[in-house]
Amino acid sequence: MRLIILEDADVVGQWAARFVVQRVAQFAPGPGRPFVLGLPTGGTPLGMYRNLIKYYKEGSISFKHVITFNMDEYVGLPRDHPESYHYYMWNEFFKHVDIEPGNAHILDGNAPDLGAECNRFEALIQQAGGVHLFIGGIGPDGHIAFNEPGSSLVSRTRIKSLAYDTLEANKRFFDNDISKVPRQALTVGVGTVLDAKEVMILITGSHKALALAKAIEEGVNHMWTVSAFQQHAQALFVCDEAATLEL
Ligand code: F6R
Repeated sequence: MRLIILEDADVVGQWAARFVVQRVAQFAPGPGRPFVLGLPTGGTPLGMYRNLIKYYKEGSISFKHVITFNMDEYVGLPRDHPESYHYYMWNEFFKHVDIEPGNAHILDGNAPDLGAECNRFEALIQQAGGVHLFIGGIGPDGHIAFNEPGSSLVSRTRIKSLAYDTLEANKRFFDNDISKVPRQALTVGVGTVLDAKEVMILITGSHKALALAKAIEEGVNHMWTVSAFQQHAQALFVCDEAATLEL
């Protein structure tokens, strides 16, 4: 595990985007399998997406040979709802780059059989040959994807009821009204992300400082699910100075 401390959230976004450009560039497209990238939503990765779009426009990266898998999606929110993760991904990133729409995988929170949808997603990751680089964000309570405190550290893609802290943190996207935040989500498991060859976790802001300290300075603990990544051989925690206040 490596910890990279950068000045502020803007620099974290630039650094993370450059890292993705390097990784995709190292992976020569050809007869082999495409580069497989796991992606988060939320406020933290927006700077990375903006920089990736800039690099794409400059010709420094192409997503033609990239397959993506998103971490999670709300249950029951229409796909075209401005807060759905489908809407977020297309609006903030995919529509600005040359990814093949069929290569961008996002869980369907409106599937008639949600359990089957989760199994289908895991199978697709397997078929793609596994994830080369999973990028994640964490909540102030240390959740990664929607693996809330108490989640199993070997969990796979499944339905999760969201913790009160997550509803509280995400209400800012729903008119500041907690009753409008969906109560459930589909999410990749901690085990799903741990299977990736490389994991990059982006952490910015002083409100995440306790979570970062729990993640890397204390033992592995399922009450702080991000702490599982201490034991991943190729995990990178990329944070700003504000997030290091408790270290
Ligand atoms: C998003 C996700 C979540 C967020 C986390 C932090 O796909 O899985 O774990 O990364 O809730 O969200 P922000 O970045 O908005 O603070």
